[in-house]
Formats: sequence, C-alpha cells, structure tokens
Amino acid sequence: MYIFLTTIVIILFMTFIFEVNKKKFYKLKKNLEFVISLPGASIFSSLVDSLQIACNYKELINCIDAVTKKYGNLTRFILGTDIFVVLTKPEDYKLVLTNVNGNYKSSVTQTWKAILGDGIIRASGASHKLRRKIIHPLMNIKYLSEYITYFDSNLCMDILEKNVDGPMFDLKPYIEQYAFNIFLVTTVGIQGIANKDGLDILHKQKELFKDAYSKVIKPWLRLNWIFSLTGNRKQMCIAEKTLIDFIYNISPRKSENYTALQRNNYNMTIFQELKPIFNNYWDRVEEIRANVSNKSCDVSYENFLDDIRNFFAAIQNTITEATSFIMLMLAIHTDVQEKLRQEILVTFNNDKIAQRLLNMPYLNMVFQETLRLFPIVPIISRQLTEDIKLESCTLPEGCYVMIPIFAIHRNPKYWYKPLEFIPERFSSTHCRYTYIPFGMGLRDCVGQKYAFLIVATIIVNLLRRYRFVTVGNLNNIKTTADIVLRPQHVKMSITRI
Ligand code: HEM
Repeated sequence: MYIFLTTIVIILFMTFIFEVNKKKFYKLKKNLEFVISLPGASIFSSLVDSLQIACNYKELINCIDAVTKKYGNLTRFILGTDIFVVLTKPEDYKLVLTNVNGNYKSSVTQTWKAILGDGIIRASGASHKLRRKIIHPLMNIKYLSEYITYFDSNLCMDILEKNVDGPMFDLKPYIEQYAFNIFLVTTVGIQGIANKDGLDILHKQKELFKDAYSKVIKPWLRLNWIFSLTGNRKQMCIAEKTLIDFIYNISPRKSENYTALQRNNYNMTIFQELKPIFNNYWDRVEEIRANVSNKSCDVSYENFLDDIRNFFAAIQNTITEATSFIMLMLAIHTDVQEKLRQEILVTFNNDKIAQRLLNMPYLNMVFQETLRLFPIVPIISRQLTEDIKLESCTLPEGCYVMIPIFAIHRNPKYWYKPLEFIPERFSSTHCRYTYIPFGMGLRDCVGQKYAFLIVATIIVNLLRRYRFVTVGNLNNIKTTADIVLRPQHVKMSITRI
C-alpha cells in the first residue's frame, strides 16, 4: 500500500514537472533532433573529444578547426554540456549576426560573469541596445586621435632600455603595462597606478580569465560544491572582489549608496588634460533620456561600473595580445619589419604620430594579416531567441550557434596560402565577410578603431627606436586560448636603430 501511494505521488510529480516544462521539453527535443541531423562526428566520438579538451589533451580551437574541415560549413560540436551548431559559411553566419534573434549572449557567456558582470559584452536584448547607444558615440575618432598624441611618448620605455643588446627577453610585461596605462588614461583619466597595485590587479584579472575558460571546458566546475573541492573558489571570490573594488575606485563618478564596496586609496594621479570616455557616459544617458519618453532606457549605477569593467577586460587583453602577435610576426619576418620601418620613417619624419597612422597602408596590412592568422577573439557564440532561416535549413529557437573565426580565417577555400604571413594579400580587396576579426552585425566590436590606433601607436613607437629579432618561425608559435587567443611567449632580442 505504502509503495503504491509513493508510486502515485512520484507519477503525479513527474507529470506536473513535465506539464510545467512541456514547452521547454519540446524546444529541447526539437533542438536535439535538429543538431543530431547535422553532418558531424558520432555523439560518442564528440564526447571523447570534449573530454580530451577538458583534460587539456586537445586544444579547443584546433579541434573546432579540424571538425569544420572534416564536416563542412554546417556541423555540430559538443562543448561542455552544450551542443553547438557551427557555421562557417559567410552567407549563414551573416544571417545570424545581423538578426535581432541572433543577438542573445547572456546564457552562453554565463561563465564570464565574474570578469564582465552584466556589462555591454554580456548584456542582451533592450539593455544591450541601450548600452551600445550610450557607448558607440563615445568611441569616435575625434576623441581618440587626441589620446594618440599622449601615447606617442617614452611610456614604460625603461623596461626596454635595460634589455637593449642583451639576450632574448619577454616583451609581454612591457606591452601589458603600456596597455594598462592606456586603459586608465583613455577610459577614466588616471595617469598611473603604483606598480605593485597595478600588477596585482592584472594578475587577478588573468586568474579570472583562466577560471572562466576552465568552466567552459570542464562544466562540472560550474557546480559550486565541486568547485569548492578544488580549493580555487575562495581565491576566485577574492579576485572578483578585488576587480570590482578597483573599478569602483577608479570610476569617475562615485555613489554614496553603493555600500558593497571597499574604498581603496590607490596611489594614482588624475589626468586633467583630456576628457576620458567614461566621463561622458552619464551625459549620453541624459541625452538619450531626453529624447526617449519610455522608461526602457534606464541604466543603473551597477551597469555603469560593469561597462567600465568590460572596457578594462577588452582593452587590457586585446591590445596586449594583438600587439604581442604583431611584434612576433615582425621579429620573425624581419623583411616585413624593415619595410614597415621605412614606411614609418617616411611618414613621420621624426614628427608626432597623431592621425597619420590612419594613412599608413603597409601598417594596416600588417595589422590585418596578423589578426587574420591570430584573431584575438577566436570564437563567437549566440543562443537564438527565435527560429532563423538559412538557405539550407532553419535554425531552431533556443539553439546554440558558434562562429569559429579562427577556422574561417585559415580556410583554404577563402584564403590563398592560408597558413603563411603575407601582409600584401590585404593590398587588394577581399570578401568582407570572410575576414571578421571584429565580428559583424549587431554586436560587432565597438573598439575596433580604438584598437587599431593604440596598437599602431605602440608598434610605431617601438620600431622607430629598436630592431627586433627572434628565433623560430610561424609554425613554432605556441598559442593558448582561454577566451582570447594569446601567444605563450613573446621572446625576442632588441638592438637600437
Ligand atoms: C584587436 C583588438 C580587438 C579584437 C580582435 C576585438 C574583437 C571583438 C569581437 C570579435 C567582438 C564581437 C563579439 C561577438 O560578436 O560576440 C567584439 C566585441 C566587443 N569589443 Fe572588441 N576587439 C578588440 C578590441 C577592443 C577594444 C580595444 C575595445 C574597447 C575599447 C573593445 C570593446 C568591445 C566591446 C564593448 C564589444 C561588445 C560589443 C557588443 O556586444 O555590442 N574591443 N570585439
């Protein structure tokens, strides 16, 4: 009797759960049926791949590259607990990235929350649209070119000077510090932070990036009780809090009501001469509020801090890695380095840098070709909020879509000698949609002009003063990918010009 009653209760409970989640269940079923119908490796061998990625036997991006080469333009890939539809045909991913229903990111970027909070990079829907409306105009070329003059200086040069004519050394710490200074001045108008505090913050940000990636490839770490067993949980909570405190302390506007945070007295100087990006943030909000009557355009103080945090993550990581890859390319291809140096010497003639950077064709080609081979954001992903019709099929609502920029940029169908470094290939026009280092469509990179100007300034400053050489070649470059693609080492030797 007791067993009978228990069985009835369980059946009723299951029916209730099923009814409540019926819609979700059918959506999931439809999704799974669709993904399984796609060409791809068997589910068993995909799971083995996924486990090998989790155990670091296989590199995620190389594995995705191999899958797309083997199964073509529309395939599937298991990553953690999710199955992704992988798109590599420009017509297909263009349809997704330009569609409002292909705009949703929050769920696929859940593991990045500790680094980015709910800032513009993770926001979706109306909140995302509003944040772009606020931020996009703040990134205009007029503001940016004023900063360039400031960076055309001897910033952080002491790190390099002590290595001139010495053995091989790692250029990365120099580039990291330069990028950190650039972030501080351009976004919040701070001229520098004591070295020890700065290094600690950069270190904490790196730990959070590693942690976010671990949770992508090892989904069991997303369960707090398992994560606690690894002993890293406390460390990550401290890192996240340090980062949030740092952002609050440098933010140009403080809120008395924001009590969750510690005030910290970093040893820093406010830079008075230029108006940095986030000093204009609330003016933009007011402007938008004045023109739009409905309340959907509200941003909170937390959103503002999260947006600064997103810029910190974006600027610090992309500028550092893009500059590192370019310097590696130039140290390996010394003929390209010399050709670029000639362009620099002719263009500047010992002059200030300012806007001339934009009119340097060879510098542009080197920049573009490096980002083709090493797209700093190697993969982008979405979850669809409605069905999206492609030429060959309809992607169902709710499905996860992955666009592997790395694989697209190295696809021999789109690129002649794809694994070689040939800046000249960008001297003629190429298909706009097969070259997407900054993404495309409704969520393309708002910082692309900024990135070019800053990276170009650093490269010009370096090449005007020094010659760089390294050992090895393009095939020896070891990369690591967490959320961004990074060279493992940037070792080279330098001599004065
Ligand atoms: C070489 C440097 C950079 C590369 C390769 C790069 C690449 C990208 C890519 C591929 C996306 C699209 C992501 C997606 O569709 O899911 C993106 C978005 C974004 N990038 Fe960059 N980025 C770079 C530099 C920067 C810089 C310097 C900033 C800030 C000044 C920045 C700010 C952003 C923001 C805020 C977004 C989110 C836009 C949105 O979701 O609406 N990026 N970036």
